[in-house]
Parts: sequence; C-alpha cells; structure tokens
Amino acid sequence: TERTFIAVKPDGVHRGLVHKVIERFENRGYKLVGLKAVVPSRQLTEEHYADLKSKPFFKGLVDYMSNGEAPVIAMVWEGPDVIKQGRAMIGATNPLQSAPGTIRGEYCVSVGRNAIHGSDSFESAEKEISLWFGKAGELIDWKRSGSEWVISNN
Ligand code: GTP
Ligand code: MG
Repeated sequence: TERTFIAVKPDGVHRGLVHKVIERFENRGYKLVGLKAVVPSRQLTEEHYADLKSKPFFKGLVDYMSNGEAPVIAMVWEGPDVIKQGRAMIGATNPLQSAPGTIRGEYCVSVGRNAIHGSDSFESAEKEISLWFGKAGELIDWKRSGSEWVISNN
C-alpha cells in the first residue's frame, strides 16, 4: 500500500493548523505511520526542494522552512492512492487558485505561505520519506482499528 510525505510548514504551525491537517487525513481513513516536529537544516530543506533551486524564491523558501521560528510537522500517511488524494486535499500551489474545500483553499491566500506540503509523485514520496524519516524505527507498521470498514479487499 501507498505512503506519502505530508508536512505542515512553519506558517501553518504558527497558525494552529496542525490539527486541521491531521483531522482531514484521519477522517478520510488514512493511517498515520510517522510524525515528528523538526527544524530542518538548510541542507535538508535544499535537498527537499532541489528541483526549485533555480527559482527566484528559492532562498526565501529555504529561509522560511529552516529558520527555526517554528518547526515543520513532518508526517507520513498511508492508504489507497494517498499521494494523489493528498495533493487533491491540499489544493493548488497558489492558494488563490486552490478550490474551496481544499486545505490551502480554506486557510491560505499566499503562495509563499501555503501552510502545507505534499509529495507530488511516487518518486518524490520515496525520496522525501527517506530524507525526513531516514532513521530506523521512525515509521510504524500498525493496523488501524476498524480499517475493514474503511478499506475493502475487493
Ligand atoms: P509543496 O507541496 O510545498 O512542494 O508545494 P507544491 O508542490 O504545490 O509547489 P512546488 O513544489 O512547485 O513549490 C514548492 C513551494 O515553493 C510551494 O509550496 C511554495 O511554498 C513555494 N513557491 C512555489 N512557487 C512560488 C512562488 O512563485 N513564489 C513564492 N514566494 N513561493 C513559491
Ligand atoms: Mg512540490
């Protein structure tokens, strides 16, 4: 089954949105298999956003993620199609284009303060999960109670 990396960014943490994010993924039926608060190093953040290195906003993005004014709340969620569904639940990169009902569409108005990150593909999910949760034992395999009422075998 599929896993994705979801992170509440420092602005989302300051604004008290951590529980809103967790609530939406839990309510949907996804399973939380990893969770921690981190102040990422610049190096980790630069690796995480390596594909954006040439963008004019890159330095500002790295500063805001890693300056320690609030932690990043890093999570791994598991379940059917969770990578694509997670992106849909988060909404478009620019909150002014995020549909109402999405996390960004409900809580954000600025692309530079869009509160949450989600892996955009299977490859990114694998890379990001190992980058943020590299240590053994940080991800837990468990069976969510009542999961047979959420996920059928056929
Ligand atoms: P993530 O889930 O955080 O990866 O966002 P995304 O996949 O929707 O967008 P993308 O990976 O292209 O950009 C990563 C992050 O860079 C965005 O979430 C924004 O925080 C930031 N970003 C992207 N475009 C802009 C921009 O034009 N201006 C600013 N200030 N920030 C941007
Ligand atoms: Mg992205």
